Amino acid sequence: MRTLPLLAQLLGCPVCESSLEAATEALVCKGCKQTYPNWAGLPWLFHRPHEYRADWGHRLRFYVQSLERDIQTLKLEQKIPDLLSSTVERLRYIIQGKIEQQREIEKLCHELEVPAMGSYELHTAMGTPLPEQQSLLGYYANVLRDWGWGESENQATADFLSEVMGPEQLGVMAVLGSGPSRLAYDLHRRYPGSTTLAIDINPFYLLVAARMIAGKTLQLYEFPMAPRDLKSFAVKVKCKAPEPIKEGFHLLLGDATRPSLKPASVDTLLTPWLIDVLPLDLRAFATRINRVLKPDGRWVNFGALVFHQTLQSRCYSREEVLDILAASGFEVLKSADRELPYLQGPHSCQKRLELLFAFSARKVREVPILAEVEPTPAWLEHVTDIIPPWPELQQQVFINHSLAVILAQVNGQRSLRDLSELLVPQMGMSAEQILPVLRRVLGKAWDQRLKARTF
Ligand SMILES: C[S@@+](CC[C@H](N)C(=O)[O-])C[C@H]1O[C@@H](n2cnc3c(N)ncnc32)[C@H](O)[C@@H]1O
Repeated sequence: MRTLPLLAQLLGCPVCESSLEAATEALVCKGCKQTYPNWAGLPWLFHRPHEYRADWGHRLRFYVQSLERDIQTLKLEQKIPDLLSSTVERLRYIIQGKIEQQREIEKLCHELEVPAMGSYELHTAMGTPLPEQQSLLGYYANVLRDWGWGESENQATADFLSEVMGPEQLGVMAVLGSGPSRLAYDLHRRYPGSTTLAIDINPFYLLVAARMIAGKTLQLYEFPMAPRDLKSFAVKVKCKAPEPIKEGFHLLLGDATRPSLKPASVDTLLTPWLIDVLPLDLRAFATRINRVLKPDGRWVNFGALVFHQTLQSRCYSREEVLDILAASGFEVLKSADRELPYLQGPHSCQKRLELLFAFSARKVREVPILAEVEPTPAWLEHVTDIIPPWPELQQQVFINHSLAVILAQVNGQRSLRDLSELLVPQMGMSAEQILPVLRRVLGKAWDQRLKARTF
């Protein structure tokens, strides 16, 4: 079945939860009439799809700009006198890698039809996250592992999950946070007859996945943190799937915390490396998963448990996760730990292992949806709502303002002593007290000018 008609059967509107219908290159809500476009071959199931595309477009553009910056900085570095010839060679490798990476990413920007918007400086000031910085872990390496570093790590993962899941059919399987989607792809091939929906919030990963499942190739670059030798500082990685998928595999952009899946619409719901990276409390998330599963449907989870919640009480252990399952209408069929290789790139000195946790749990009863303890403020949703100031805001304004005041005083005519005397009235400190602050702030700004971004 083609993607949009199938999605119209399985999905509900992320805004009002009414049914959707397939239109030309879009899904349209039968209730609120909101349109969910199909851009770059992907359905965008977000509340405000245009904003999402602009935001992700900024990230990709910013990444291209960052690469350009790096290339210019490296070219200047090449001119440093007395460099070893092997150093010159290494710099040449990195520059070449960044140029080719820039070209490949430009092509993806082109597919997204993102207009050039905002300077490098503006994106830096606004804190525009680069695609790899969406979380603390950074997921770019997942693309290389999934499609470029060979089979062994992917196979070990799929073997472990097959053991946990057993031979039972997957039916309609939704994979939330599928990333570059290799695991979804492997399970789809291992369990013939499945219908797979691979869902992620990040169009970069799904654009990569779309190319892979279509049998196309991408030439991406790896810049390892711990390169094993000179040539490993920039390595071209050919990304390609073992074979294309023709039937039953669909990619979809959406937010896992508000899965637009209809109630009781899926047989299997897989969350690979997701439950601990979501901002939503697992107790609330588990009730949403319960809702979209059919009676007897299975929730299968895999990954580490490294929760990044602000509240310690929400950073759960394995034992608490199993308790949450029981309280959210699930019966645990199997849970297991396995030590597996983790992002072991062939060109890196680092070889990490992780003790990973998986479970398969059957939905045995319906439970009510648990509300978020701290919901998104209304003024972030409704553009005309007044924004009420919060206590820490003044502090944040003061910190940013002080930094801007200090940096703006550097005009090519002043010393540290001049600056410290000049800033006495603004900073409410003596010139002597200001000096170490200035050394730290300006020292950091000086270091930052050299800081190359890696991807
Ligand atoms: C740790 S990565 C795991 C990726 C993939 N499952 C794997 O095993 O390689 C987490 C993934 O969740 C996605 N993600 C994070 N927040 C999400 C959300 N709210 N909705 C959907 N996907 C999300 C990220 O884009 C990323 O692809």
